[in-house]
Amino acid sequence: MTSSEQQKQQTALIVGASRGLGLALASEYLKRGWRVIATVRGSGTPLHQLQPQSGDRLEIEHLDIDATGDIEALRQRLDDRSIDLLFVNAGIAIDSDKTIGQLGTEAFTRMMVTNALSPMRVIEAFDSLVAPGGVIAAMSSGLASVANNTDGGWEGYRASKAALNTLMRSYAARQPEPARTLLLMAPGWVRTEMGGPGATLDISESIPLVVDVMTAQTGRGGLKYLNRLGETLPW
Ligand SMILES: NC(=O)c1ccc[n+]([C@@H]2O[C@H](COP(=O)([O-])OP(=O)(O)OC[C@H]3O[C@@H](n4cnc5c(N)ncnc54)[C@H](OP(=O)(O)O)[C@@H]3O)[C@@H](O)[C@H]2O)c1
Repeated sequence: MTSSEQQKQQTALIVGASRGLGLALASEYLKRGWRVIATVRGSGTPLHQLQPQSGDRLEIEHLDIDATGDIEALRQRLDDRSIDLLFVNAGIAIDSDKTIGQLGTEAFTRMMVTNALSPMRVIEAFDSLVAPGGVIAAMSSGLASVANNTDGGWEGYRASKAALNTLMRSYAARQPEPARTLLLMAPGWVRTEMGGPGATLDISESIPLVVDVMTAQTGRGGLKYLNRLGETLPW
């Protein structure tokens, strides 16, 4: 790589990249020549298997997004870094077959914390590292759309992702001009541990498109809620 290519090399911080869609995001950005800082909670994850072929372009960091001490520690470690894409992917689904009346308080609370509060805490902590022309994104879901919720299902999870969307709108509303690009991405129903084997899409049919959409949106500014085809979803 020449020195001018090195200068142009962009950096993504992908939060929750041990497996599934986050792993695929890390892998896709590495393929596209980016430097990737990717976070995990454990050791020996599928992400770690990318390390040998990625060299120093892949940096693996520890972060449990529900632990504020972890967020502070990583923010300090990355204090001198500039990031072109901050993507919070981490998320959980618990008892998605239960109605809200059947769902336990702990399950509901955990989803609200991990899917809505913690991603926003990460965004608030790391946004000052994101370059002015960069992108701040979170993994939302088509299920987060209040307007499209005509068939129910995944009730607690759906509520937590709708909460994420609304918190991102509040965040967007207090950003100074010129507005940075803020994205809530819906990847489609994808075969991962969360999506399950009956999901309609393979990871390879989702994540490269999600990355294409984010690339196309870079520099446009403002908050958008988009699917993998770049279509705007109704709030
Ligand atoms: N699959 C789908 O159809 C689909 C559709 C719409 C949206 N999504 C969203 O896409 C994202 C990824 O989903 P997935 O399908 O890839 O699920 P997955 O296979 O279950 O992976 C979830 C990822 O989130 C991480 N994570 C969970 N809690 C965390 C925490 N407290 N701190 C840090 N990392 C945490 C997991 O890390 P560990 O390995 O440490 O557990 C794992 O890397 C989620 O936000 C999900 O809601 C998925």
